[in-house]
This record gives sequence, structure tokens and C-alpha cells, in this order.
Amino acid sequence: MYKFLTGIKSTGRPHLGNVIGVIYPTIFLTKLTKLTKLTKNVILIANLHSLTNLKSIKNNKNNAYKILAVWLACGIDYKQFLFYRQSDIPEVTELLWFFSIIYPYNRLKLVHSFKENVKKKQIINTGILTYPILMAADILISKAELVLVGKDQLQHLEIARKIAKKINNIIAKKIFPLPQAIVIEKLIPGTDGTKMSKTKNNIIDLFASKKEIKKQIMKIKTQKQFSHKKKELLKDNLYNIYRRLAGKEKKEKIKTKFQMGYEHAKEELYKLIINKFKRERNFYKYYIKRKNMLETIFKKGAKKMKQIVNSTIYEVRKAFECN
Ligand code: TRP
Repeated sequence: MYKFLTGIKSTGRPHLGNVIGVIYPTIFLTKLTKLTKLTKNVILIANLHSLTNLKSIKNNKNNAYKILAVWLACGIDYKQFLFYRQSDIPEVTELLWFFSIIYPYNRLKLVHSFKENVKKKQIINTGILTYPILMAADILISKAELVLVGKDQLQHLEIARKIAKKINNIIAKKIFPLPQAIVIEKLIPGTDGTKMSKTKNNIIDLFASKKEIKKQIMKIKTQKQFSHKKKELLKDNLYNIYRRLAGKEKKEKIKTKFQMGYEHAKEELYKLIINKFKRERNFYKYYIKRKNMLETIFKKGAKKMKQIVNSTIYEVRKAFECN
């Protein structure tokens, strides 16, 4: 049996990229529980990681609810899972400290996500530097063995593995398993063709109003001219988004729309999204109104999580003579 974990940062409502890249694959994998031998599945809402962007502070609480509501709306069986909100388990931040003192800071300065932030921002807070260490704490505190992440998070996972090895060496006992990544290759591109991400303002928000979704779709950058050739077609961002969502016969349909003009093709994508996610959109509206229910799921998750972390944190404290 393998212990599975995944997480989403609470920077806003999960977008189409999160749904296709994290939520659906998780649901799919866990439906195959017997085959994949996944068990004790943990899903975390990273509401401390989100704070590295100070703009997220204002909506942080609500964003955590939104993430849970989207997981539920997409059909996750929450009884099969332990949903936990990072801030409900202060031991995670305690681990962050122990891990920080054993990981060299100059290596953190070489992490891609950090370097990207340095390029973009004038002020870099320390949390951006230690972001991967907090993620290692998330993963190792529950002794996860399989971690579903986007490609861009692989480097962070590698850091978690290094930390796990070092701690095991220090303690001379294998308290942490080395977590393995499950990576979803077929990501859906954002409206500008790069990875879909809120900060890049290139998302399609499945749970926004129809008007807003239309606006986001209209923003999709396309090739100058439509071409039937497969090679050219695959360069077209609109086509790439469409083909990830549509079945075979629909893919043919979009080609005729392309010939009529990009406006028609965009209209077709809009219709596809509204139809395909009708059920999820309705369920989202249902769940997001029930904050008490969402809070109860978090509270129950935190309670179960406490039991899991107690033994881990005890061992780590003891190793550092802080028991
Ligand atoms: N850093 C991840 C992201 O931005 C979110 C995350 C935080 C996470 N902690 C995690 C993902 C632990 C997997 C496991 O996508």
C-alpha cells in the first residue's frame, strides 16, 4: 500500500489547469485504488504557501473553502480522503525549522521558482526562498510515498527527498520514506500558450460566470492563419486547449469551425466547456454556500492529521534533542 498526497496552493479558485492536472488525475487514480495500491490519501490546501504572495492574504480563508468546494464539485469522495489545511497543523511549520537548519541556503537560491521570482519582483520575502522547505514539511510530515505534482514542482520534490535522506541519516533510522513523484504530462496550456497560472493572468476559470468564461476564451492567442496540417495545428493554442477537452469526433468539428474563422472556433470551445462542466458548475454553487460543511471537513481532517503527525514530530524532536 502506498500513501498518496497532493496539494493545491490557495491563491484563488482552482482553474481549468488545476482541474485537468491535479483534481481529475487524483480522482482517477483513487478510483483505481485496488490496482494502484494507493491508500491513506491526503489532500492538502497550502494556505501558508499562498501567503508568499502578500496579495493573497486578504482572501486566504475564502480561497481555502473555494478549493475544497471545487474538489467536491469535481466528484472527489471526501470520505476516502483526508483534507487538511496547512495552517491547522502547526507541526508543519515546526518541521520547516528543523529542515531549514539542515538544508544549505545557497541551494535554495538556485531553485527555478525562486530565480523566476527574483527576475520579476523587487522585494523577495524569505518565505519565497524557503517555499520548497515548507513543501518538504507538508510531504514528509505525513510520510507520503507518492506525490502528485505538476512538472514545475519536481525540483521541490527532489529537495524533499534530499531532506528525507539527510534526516534519516542523522537519526540513523528510516523515519521518512523517499517520496516519489507522479507527474501529469498532458497539461492544458493557458490562454497565452504557457502554463496556466493565476499570476500569469492566462487562466480559464470553470466556476466563473458564463460571461467571464467567454471573456477568458476570447483572450486565447491563436496562430495568424488556420492550417489543416497536423504540425501547424498543434502549434495553435486554441486547438491545443480544445483537443485536451474534446473527444475524437468533436476534434473534427472544431476544424470546420476553424475554417470559418477563429471567432467560431472560440464559440465552439465556450460551448464545449459550459456543457462538459455543467454538473461541476452547479455542484460548486451548492458547496460554496455551505461554509459550515466545508469547515467541518477541514476540522475532521485536522483531527485525523494530528494523529498522523504526532508520531513523526515526536521522532524529529527527539533527534534534535528538543523533546
Ligand atoms: N507548491 C505546490 C504548487 O504550487 C502546492 C503544494 C504545496 C504541494 N505543498 C504541496 C503540492 C505538497 C504537492 C505536495 O503547485
